Amino acid sequence: MNRIIAPSILSADFGRLADTIRMLDEADCDWIHFDVMDGTFVPPITFGAQMVAALRPLTKKPFDCHLMIEHPETQIEMFRDAGVERLTVHVEACRHLHRTLQEIRQADLCAGVAFNPGTPLNAAREVLELVDLILVMTVNPGWGGQEFIRSCLRKIQEARQMAPHHHVEVDGGIDAETVCEAANHGANVFVVGSYAFSGKPKERISKIRSALCKG
Ligand code: DX5
Ligand code: ZN
Repeated sequence: MNRIIAPSILSADFGRLADTIRMLDEADCDWIHFDVMDGTFVPPITFGAQMVAALRPLTKKPFDCHLMIEHPETQIEMFRDAGVERLTVHVEACRHLHRTLQEIRQADLCAGVAFNPGTPLNAAREVLELVDLILVMTVNPGWGGQEFIRSCLRKIQEARQMAPHHHVEVDGGIDAETVCEAANHGANVFVVGSYAFSGKPKERISKIRSALCKG
């Protein structure tokens, strides 16, 4: 399966996001990951569809939008209109997960379902035909720069066994070492936040790519 690197702009300088997107456009990454937080599902508030729309003209790379919000069903059209390709919702935030995923599909977007470290994967089985991506959180969502939770590796493995042809995305604490552990357990999409932005992002992303190649 293709290995996809998706830098998260959460750790970028929010005062210079346009420059960041232009720089990522030229970097060796595949998708750009947007962490949308509402101050309720997780304590911080980041940004919404309007800001994503403002950045959309700056690159053709797919926008991978991770909604850490309550009532994500109210935001689908707005993010579709903002130009995202992919919307991932948290199982913990969806009372009607099946319906919300159907609505994402009906909006012609790729749908993903995300699981916090404390949440088992059971629900994924029930919605596999509605999603093309399972996001396994390897930190508790809300902040960049946290330590990779190793006990989540077995959940990555379980996701891969359950869904051999889906994307299995890993998010949280990914660096040039943990990326290999995640890949060896079956992940193929790698969100990279603080590691990418605590040095020169292009170089950091290349390091992730070569770590993945070495395996
Ligand atoms: C955390 C976000 C992540 C975050 C990852 O809630 O979902 O996408 O940017 O940051 P790092 O890679 O620093 O753990
Ligand atoms: Zn994320």
